[in-house]
Amino acid sequence: MNKKEFTITIAGGGSTWTPGLLKALCKRKGTFPLKRVVLFDNNPERQEVIGEFAKVLFKEEYPTVDFEYTTSPEVAFTGTDFVFCQIRTGGYKMRELDEKIPLSLGAIGQETCGPGGFAYGMRSIGDMIKLIEEVRKYAPEAWFLNYTNPAAIVADALKKAFPNDKKILNICDQPVNLLRSYGRLLGMDSSEFEPVYFGLNHFGWFTNIYDKNGVDLVPKLKDITLNSGFKPADAEQRDQSWLDTYAMVRDMLVDFPDYMPNTYLQYYYYPEYKKAKLDPEYTRANEVMNGREKRVFEECREIAARGSMGESNVVHNDAHGEMIVEVAESIAFNENRIYIVIVQNNGLISNLDDDVMVEVAANLGINGPRPFGVGKIGTFYKGLMEQQFAYERLTVEAWFEGSYAKALQALTLNRTIVDAKKARKILDALIEANKEYWPTLR
Ligand code: G6P
Ligand code: MN
Repeated sequence: MNKKEFTITIAGGGSTWTPGLLKALCKRKGTFPLKRVVLFDNNPERQEVIGEFAKVLFKEEYPTVDFEYTTSPEVAFTGTDFVFCQIRTGGYKMRELDEKIPLSLGAIGQETCGPGGFAYGMRSIGDMIKLIEEVRKYAPEAWFLNYTNPAAIVADALKKAFPNDKKILNICDQPVNLLRSYGRLLGMDSSEFEPVYFGLNHFGWFTNIYDKNGVDLVPKLKDITLNSGFKPADAEQRDQSWLDTYAMVRDMLVDFPDYMPNTYLQYYYYPEYKKAKLDPEYTRANEVMNGREKRVFEECREIAARGSMGESNVVHNDAHGEMIVEVAESIAFNENRIYIVIVQNNGLISNLDDDVMVEVAANLGINGPRPFGVGKIGTFYKGLMEQQFAYERLTVEAWFEGSYAKALQALTLNRTIVDAKKARKILDALIEANKEYWPTLR
């Protein structure tokens, strides 16, 4: 029997991640046949560069695909089966401010953590709601797979805005990046792992990772990490700041040896130490703008001009792109593979409120995620998660209600800030910088 052919729309078509994602679509054409692929962006100049590259890629690797790029929501979404969403409101220029403003005022400046994540969240919510309204106008039944950050805050906001929409799935690639890294350390194929995980997005822990025979690999992983350190699966392609981040997993295990931690926990466990290590004049946004962004756009221009892919490696193996394609495939063909996803708690963690947006492992099939419960969690983890979720929830409420008071409460609760006077200074500076993007806070 011939498999159905699908249509995929990438919202945020001009992203630096798009080439890797398109390459992943080509790689999986045998198992995930496509009829049509559309890029959608509100920035036509940026998207054109990627779109012209994509024409060459599909001509060489997947000529049967009907490809186009557009700024029209109607063209982008009519008849689509999956929307992969990776928009970035304010672009890397605003990411740079998210990182630098807090650092100039004595707090962590990071894309998704602390006040940086707060600022980005307050920019993302409005655009995400508008985008989903447009998607639902033209494709009421499409799956909306969201990558847009800060995913924890975006997921909670979307739950509030679209409480009955069962086809919005928020998912992050960092757990897959970590599983691949464990695979490399152990010399095993991570796609065979069965992980047990709990937390919030960018704030979670692997408690167990079972191999095919049911053997838990976590004890061995801890040993290897404690003795020889930790590095990403794709270490050769990573910038120094990411290598530093992965190396911190060892520090975290020394202090909190229960579980294998998500790398982002470094900012919450060690806010003072990490702040001292970050350069307020040159942050990750600068590294990305001078590195990945330059490289991707230059190579895409060259490929389009030449009309052939040649030796280009603009699309090296990239967990980001590969995971989202595999996720779509697992839904499309009801494969029920295990992914770590963001869902409403509803008893999964039994001693946490039902409406917390938690991150746990789930079978992923045609009806969406069927998540695995983890029971009761320890006091340390519960305390950390409740404080962090309160920050996330207050951020979402600050946006919906235009509430300065809630924004201040949110930042005060964040472990990377703590002091309310510091929180107020940072909030006022971020309000000034984000005038064009945030609702007015009163
Ligand atoms: C991981 C995270 C993403 C994050 C990305 C940042 O993949 O899961 O949420 O956006 O890292 O990467 P960058 O290279 O832009 O710092
Ligand atoms: Mn993520």
